Parts: sequence; structure tokens; C-alpha cells
Amino acid sequence: MPDDPQRVVLAVVADLLRARHDGVVGVAEFLTALPRSRTPGCAAAPAAPAHADHLAGTLTTLRGDVDPLLGAIGEAIDRAGPALDWRVDDGRYYEPGAPVGDGYRSGNMHTVLAEGDDLAIGLFLLAPATDYLDHRHAAPEFYLNLTGPTRWRFDGGPWLRHDAGTVVWNPPGRVHATTTGDAPWLSLWAWLADIDRPCEVVSVDTGA
Ligand SMILES: [Fe+2]
Repeated sequence: MPDDPQRVVLAVVADLLRARHDGVVGVAEFLTALPRSRTPGCAAAPAAPAHADHLAGTLTTLRGDVDPLLGAIGEAIDRAGPALDWRVDDGRYYEPGAPVGDGYRSGNMHTVLAEGDDLAIGLFLLAPATDYLDHRHAAPEFYLNLTGPTRWRFDGGPWLRHDAGTVVWNPPGRVHATTTGDAPWLSLWAWLADIDRPCEVVSVDTGA
């Protein structure tokens, strides 16, 4: 087992993906990229997470999941806690002034677990009742939903429910949106290429 706590989290994530999602699109891409990442340098004493209460709630849920591998991920994240440098995205991944929405702006945070040459892997959290609006980016994107349910839509299609333990793979340019319900949402997230190209908020005509 690796020494640093971020790497321990990723080792358990890899265990779950191999055990539960062998052959699922996006999983091989993530597992192939993982060995070329490294733990980022970190502030000596990271600030308290902006949404510490929601993070605690998701970890309680995750540690109690009926899937023991999800529970193990929760335990590993919990143990990594003091080493994790959580940041709120105030639009830095978007062009200046992009309409990301007040809900997203005030209800998100992430921490980078590993990085590499054009590669970023982390944890991402959204507060309850938050809309992460339709957007696209050049980066191929991988999610492992650690808690749920959340609802997603892709290329303006119908809203689909995703529960804890499910995987989402967004190829480059695919329009996608996520919305949370009564509970906060925690996920493992990765961008596997083109990480410096900005996200673009997209207005989707659903015909409604
Ligand atoms: Fe995305």
C-alpha cells in the first residue's frame, strides 16, 4: 500500500474500478493514466474546507455504503483529511465572466489528489440542490460517483439518475450537466488531457 494518503485513496478507487467496472467505457483510460500521476505539493496546513459540513455528511454516507469498496474509499478519504487542500472554483476553469450560475459558484469545492503531464485527478463536491449547468470542455473527463443520487444529462438529452458507485465518462466536447438533490454529492473526478483549455457553458435547447 502506498505511503501518502492521497495515493491510498487512489489505490482503493482503482481496486473498486477493477472489481466493479471492468470493461466500462472510460475505466481503462483512467486506470492507464493513473500510474503517470504523482501527489501534488501541498500547503503545510491547508485551510478548512469551505463546505466541511457537506463533506462530513458525504463521508458518513460513503463509509456506511453497502459496497465495502465504497466504504473503504470513504475510510481512506477520511484518513487523508488533514492532507487535502480543498479549493472552491470561482470560475477559474472557465472564460472570465462565464455564466456558471450562482448555485455552482457558491456550492462547489475540489481537491487535487494527483497530477501529471496534462493530467489532473481529484475529489469534487457539490452542495445539495445545486445545478452544475450544461457545459463542455476539450478534456476527456472521468467521474466515479461516490455518493448519490445525482441527475445528469448529456447533449441535451433526458435527465438520468446516477447512484453511488456508478461511472460517467465524458469524451471531449460532450455537453453535460449535473444536478444534486437533497444530499451533497462527492465524486472522484479526472481530466486526462487538455487540462488547460477552458470549460464553456452551453445553452441547451431541449424543446421544453
Ligand atoms: Fe465536465
